[in-house]
Amino acid sequence: MWNIQNFPELPSTQLYAKRQLQAGKAKHGDVITTLHQTEGRGRNETRSWLDEPGSNVLMSIVLTEIPTVLHDKMQFVAGLSVLEAVRSIVPGENIRIKWPNDILHDWKKISGVISEAIWSGNILKGMVIGIGINVNQQKFPDEVSGHAISLCQITGREIPVEQVRDLVLSEISRNLHSAADVLGRLRNELEWLRYIGHFSLTDSGGTNFPGLRYDGITDEGSLVTISGNGEKKIFQNASMSFQ
Ligand code: BTN
Repeated sequence: MWNIQNFPELPSTQLYAKRQLQAGKAKHGDVITTLHQTEGRGRNETRSWLDEPGSNVLMSIVLTEIPTVLHDKMQFVAGLSVLEAVRSIVPGENIRIKWPNDILHDWKKISGVISEAIWSGNILKGMVIGIGINVNQQKFPDEVSGHAISLCQITGREIPVEQVRDLVLSEISRNLHSAADVLGRLRNELEWLRYIGHFSLTDSGGTNFPGLRYDGITDEGSLVTISGNGEKKIFQNASMSFQ
Protein backbone atom coordinates (compact mmCIF):
# COMPACT_ATOMS: atom_id res chain seq x y z
CA MET A 1 0.00 0.00 0.00
CA TRP A 2 2.99 2.34 0.32
CA ASN A 3 4.29 4.57 -2.45
CA ILE A 4 7.72 5.68 -1.22
CA GLN A 5 9.19 8.87 -2.69
CA ASN A 6 12.75 9.51 -1.54
CA PHE A 7 14.48 12.88 -1.85
CA PRO A 8 18.19 13.58 -1.25
CA GLU A 9 17.29 16.69 0.76
CA LEU A 10 14.14 18.60 1.70
CA PRO A 11 13.43 21.46 4.09
CA SER A 12 10.92 19.13 5.82
CA THR A 13 9.12 15.98 4.62
CA GLN A 14 6.13 17.13 6.69
CA LEU A 15 5.88 20.48 4.94
CA TYR A 16 6.28 18.83 1.54
CA ALA A 17 3.64 16.14 2.19
CA LYS A 18 1.13 18.67 3.59
CA ARG A 19 1.56 20.96 0.59
CA GLN A 20 1.06 18.02 -1.79
CA LEU A 21 -2.12 16.99 0.04
CA GLN A 22 -3.45 20.55 0.17
CA ALA A 23 -2.80 20.89 -3.59
CA GLY A 24 -4.67 17.63 -4.32
CA LYS A 25 -1.42 16.02 -5.54
CA ALA A 26 -1.01 13.40 -2.82
CA LYS A 27 -2.81 10.10 -2.38
CA HIS A 28 -3.38 7.59 0.39
CA GLY A 29 -0.17 5.70 1.12
CA ASP A 30 2.30 8.27 -0.23
CA VAL A 31 5.41 8.25 1.93
CA ILE A 32 7.83 11.16 1.59
CA THR A 33 11.31 10.36 2.85
CA THR A 34 14.59 12.19 2.69
CA LEU A 35 18.23 11.70 3.65
CA HIS A 36 18.40 15.13 5.28
CA GLN A 37 16.07 17.91 6.37
CA THR A 38 17.24 21.51 6.51
CA GLU A 39 14.18 22.70 8.46
CA GLY A 40 12.92 19.56 10.22
CA ARG A 41 10.01 20.37 12.52
CA GLY A 42 9.20 19.07 15.97
CA ARG A 43 5.70 18.52 17.37
CA ASN A 44 5.78 21.89 19.02
CA GLU A 45 5.95 24.68 16.39
CA THR A 46 8.92 26.25 18.17
CA ARG A 47 11.00 23.04 18.18
CA SER A 48 13.15 21.85 15.33
CA TRP A 49 14.14 18.25 14.49
CA LEU A 50 17.83 17.98 13.68
CA ASP A 51 19.47 15.10 11.81
CA GLU A 52 22.85 13.83 10.68
CA PRO A 53 22.47 13.37 6.86
CA GLY A 54 21.76 9.78 5.78
CA SER A 55 21.60 8.40 9.31
CA ASN A 56 17.95 8.43 10.29
CA VAL A 57 14.37 7.68 9.31
CA LEU A 58 12.78 10.99 8.29
CA MET A 59 9.37 10.38 6.75
CA SER A 60 5.89 11.78 6.37
CA ILE A 61 3.00 9.49 5.52
CA VAL A 62 -0.15 10.68 3.75
CA LEU A 63 -3.34 8.92 4.84
CA THR A 64 -6.73 9.72 3.35
CA GLU A 65 -8.54 6.45 4.08
CA ILE A 66 -8.52 6.28 7.85
CA PRO A 67 -11.22 4.31 9.69
CA THR A 68 -13.48 6.90 11.39
CA VAL A 69 -12.81 5.45 14.86
CA LEU A 70 -9.12 6.24 14.39
CA HIS A 71 -9.46 9.85 13.15
CA ASP A 72 -8.53 11.43 16.48
CA LYS A 73 -6.19 8.60 17.51
CA MET A 74 -3.69 8.53 14.66
CA GLN A 75 -0.92 10.10 16.74
CA PHE A 76 -1.23 7.12 19.10
CA VAL A 77 -1.50 4.57 16.29
CA ALA A 78 1.74 5.99 14.87
CA GLY A 79 3.49 6.08 18.26
CA LEU A 80 2.47 2.50 19.10
CA SER A 81 3.57 1.35 15.63
CA VAL A 82 7.03 2.88 16.10
CA LEU A 83 7.18 1.36 19.60
CA GLU A 84 6.50 -2.14 18.23
CA ALA A 85 8.95 -1.72 15.35
CA VAL A 86 11.73 -0.46 17.65
CA ARG A 87 11.12 -3.26 20.16
CA SER A 88 11.49 -5.81 17.39
CA ILE A 89 14.87 -4.30 16.41
CA VAL A 90 16.26 -4.10 19.96
CA PRO A 91 14.52 -6.95 21.81
CA GLY A 92 15.14 -7.07 25.54
CA GLU A 93 15.96 -3.35 25.79
CA ASN A 94 13.89 -0.98 27.89
CA ILE A 95 11.82 0.71 25.19
CA ARG A 96 8.80 2.76 26.27
CA ILE A 97 6.31 5.23 24.91
CA LYS A 98 6.00 8.59 26.63
CA TRP A 99 2.70 10.44 26.22
CA PRO A 100 1.67 11.33 23.63
CA ASN A 101 4.02 9.47 21.27
CA ASP A 102 7.75 9.83 21.97
CA ILE A 103 9.71 6.58 22.03
CA LEU A 104 12.36 6.32 24.73
CA HIS A 105 15.23 4.03 25.58
CA ASP A 106 15.57 4.42 29.33
CA TRP A 107 15.16 8.23 29.53
CA LYS A 108 16.55 9.11 26.13
CA LYS A 109 14.49 9.82 23.02
CA ILE A 110 14.81 7.56 19.97
CA SER A 111 11.84 8.80 18.01
CA GLY A 112 9.24 11.56 17.74
CA VAL A 113 5.95 11.76 15.86
CA ILE A 114 3.79 14.62 14.54
CA SER A 115 0.25 13.97 13.37
CA GLU A 116 -1.50 16.73 11.45
CA ALA A 117 -4.98 16.82 9.93
CA ILE A 118 -5.57 18.73 6.70
CA TRP A 119 -9.06 20.20 6.34
CA SER A 120 -10.92 21.74 3.43
CA GLY A 121 -13.61 23.72 5.25
CA ASN A 122 -15.12 21.13 7.57
CA ILE A 123 -14.13 18.18 5.40
CA LEU A 124 -11.10 16.15 6.43
CA LYS A 125 -8.85 15.82 3.35
CA GLY A 126 -6.44 13.53 5.13
CA MET A 127 -3.70 13.29 7.68
CA VAL A 128 0.05 13.59 7.47
CA ILE A 129 2.01 11.57 10.00
CA GLY A 130 5.62 12.70 10.40
CA ILE A 131 8.07 10.28 11.98
CA GLY A 132 11.72 10.81 12.89
CA ILE A 133 13.74 7.85 14.23
CA ASN A 134 17.38 8.10 15.26
CA VAL A 135 18.89 5.04 13.58
CA ASN A 136 22.63 5.42 12.97
CA GLN A 137 23.33 8.90 14.33
CA GLN A 138 26.47 8.90 16.49
CA LYS A 139 26.58 12.43 17.80
CA PHE A 140 23.74 14.77 18.72
CA PRO A 141 23.81 18.57 18.81
CA ASP A 142 24.47 20.13 22.23
CA GLU A 143 20.84 21.17 22.74
CA VAL A 144 19.62 17.53 22.65
CA SER A 145 22.69 15.51 23.58
CA GLY A 146 22.04 13.77 26.87
CA HIS A 147 18.35 13.44 25.90
CA ALA A 148 18.68 11.63 22.56
CA ILE A 149 19.94 8.21 21.50
CA SER A 150 20.03 6.18 18.29
CA LEU A 151 19.35 2.49 17.66
CA CYS A 152 23.00 2.12 16.62
CA GLN A 153 24.16 3.52 19.96
CA ILE A 154 21.94 0.97 21.74
CA THR A 155 22.99 -2.07 19.72
CA GLY A 156 26.55 -1.09 18.81
CA ARG A 157 25.91 -1.90 15.15
CA GLU A 158 24.64 0.00 12.10
CA ILE A 159 21.10 -0.82 11.03
CA PRO A 160 19.83 -0.18 7.48
CA VAL A 161 17.56 2.89 7.66
CA GLU A 162 15.19 1.34 5.06
CA GLN A 163 14.73 -1.72 7.25
CA VAL A 164 13.54 0.44 10.15
CA ARG A 165 11.30 2.50 7.83
CA ASP A 166 9.70 -0.65 6.36
CA LEU A 167 9.09 -2.20 9.77
CA VAL A 168 7.30 0.96 10.94
CA LEU A 169 5.23 1.10 7.74
CA SER A 170 4.13 -2.53 8.10
CA GLU A 171 3.17 -1.93 11.76
CA ILE A 172 1.11 1.10 10.66
CA SER A 173 -0.70 -0.94 7.96
CA ARG A 174 -1.42 -3.67 10.48
CA ASN A 175 -2.72 -1.21 13.08
CA LEU A 176 -4.85 0.66 10.52
CA HIS A 177 -6.53 -2.55 9.46
CA SER A 178 -7.05 -4.16 12.84
CA ALA A 179 -9.86 -3.16 15.15
CA ALA A 180 -7.45 -3.17 18.07
CA ASP A 181 -8.25 -1.01 21.07
CA VAL A 182 -5.73 1.80 20.61
CA LEU A 183 -6.47 3.61 23.86
CA GLY A 184 -6.41 0.36 25.85
CA ARG A 185 -2.97 -0.42 24.47
CA LEU A 186 -1.77 3.12 25.08
CA ARG A 187 -3.01 3.02 28.69
CA ASN A 188 -1.22 -0.29 29.29
CA GLU A 189 1.99 1.07 27.80
CA LEU A 190 1.81 4.23 29.93
CA GLU A 191 1.36 2.49 33.29
CA TRP A 192 5.08 3.09 34.02
CA LEU A 193 4.29 6.80 34.50
CA ARG A 194 2.52 5.91 37.77
CA TYR A 195 5.83 4.83 39.28
CA ILE A 196 8.14 7.69 38.37
CA GLY A 197 6.92 10.29 40.85
CA HIS A 198 6.72 13.80 39.48
CA PHE A 199 7.13 15.21 36.00
CA SER A 200 6.52 18.57 34.40
CA LEU A 201 4.52 19.54 31.34
CA THR A 202 4.94 22.45 28.96
CA ASP A 203 1.76 23.29 27.11
CA SER A 204 1.53 24.56 23.52
CA GLY A 205 1.60 28.17 24.79
CA GLY A 206 4.95 27.54 26.55
CA THR A 207 3.56 27.54 30.11
CA ASN A 208 5.33 25.10 32.42
CA PHE A 209 3.44 22.96 34.95
CA PRO A 210 5.87 21.33 37.41
CA GLY A 211 5.25 18.69 40.07
CA LEU A 212 2.54 16.66 38.32
CA ARG A 213 1.69 13.00 38.77
CA TYR A 214 0.10 10.67 36.22
CA ASP A 215 -3.56 9.80 36.67
CA GLY A 216 -4.53 8.20 33.36
CA ILE A 217 -5.67 8.88 29.81
CA THR A 218 -9.16 10.11 28.88
CA ASP A 219 -11.25 8.48 26.14
CA GLU A 220 -10.00 11.24 23.83
CA GLY A 221 -6.34 10.43 24.59
CA SER A 222 -5.74 13.49 26.80
CA LEU A 223 -3.42 13.19 29.78
CA VAL A 224 -4.97 13.34 33.26
CA THR A 225 -2.60 14.70 35.91
CA ILE A 226 -2.72 15.51 39.61
CA SER A 227 -0.78 18.51 40.90
CA GLY A 228 0.97 18.87 44.27
CA ASN A 229 -2.18 20.27 45.90
CA GLY A 230 -4.29 17.36 44.67
CA GLU A 231 -5.93 19.26 41.82
CA LYS A 232 -6.78 17.30 38.67
CA LYS A 233 -5.77 18.87 35.37
CA ILE A 234 -6.25 17.47 31.88
CA PHE A 235 -3.86 18.24 29.02
CA GLN A 236 -4.71 17.70 25.37
CA ASN A 237 -1.36 18.78 23.98
CA ALA A 238 1.85 19.21 25.97
CA SER A 239 5.44 18.00 26.26
CA MET A 240 6.46 15.96 29.26
CA SER A 241 9.85 16.19 30.94
CA PHE A 242 11.31 14.55 33.97
CA GLN A 243 13.80 17.01 35.48
C1 BTN B 1 8.73 15.63 18.01
O1 BTN B 1 9.12 14.77 18.79
O2 BTN B 1 8.71 16.82 18.35
C2 BTN B 1 8.25 15.20 16.64
C3 BTN B 1 9.39 15.10 15.68
C4 BTN B 1 8.96 14.68 14.28
C5 BTN B 1 10.12 14.73 13.31
C6 BTN B 1 9.72 14.22 11.95
S1 BTN B 1 11.11 13.92 10.92
C7 BTN B 1 10.08 13.69 9.54
C8 BTN B 1 8.97 14.73 9.65
N1 BTN B 1 9.36 15.98 9.03
C9 BTN B 1 9.50 16.97 9.92
O3 BTN B 1 9.85 18.13 9.66
N2 BTN B 1 9.23 16.51 11.15
C10 BTN B 1 8.83 15.11 11.13
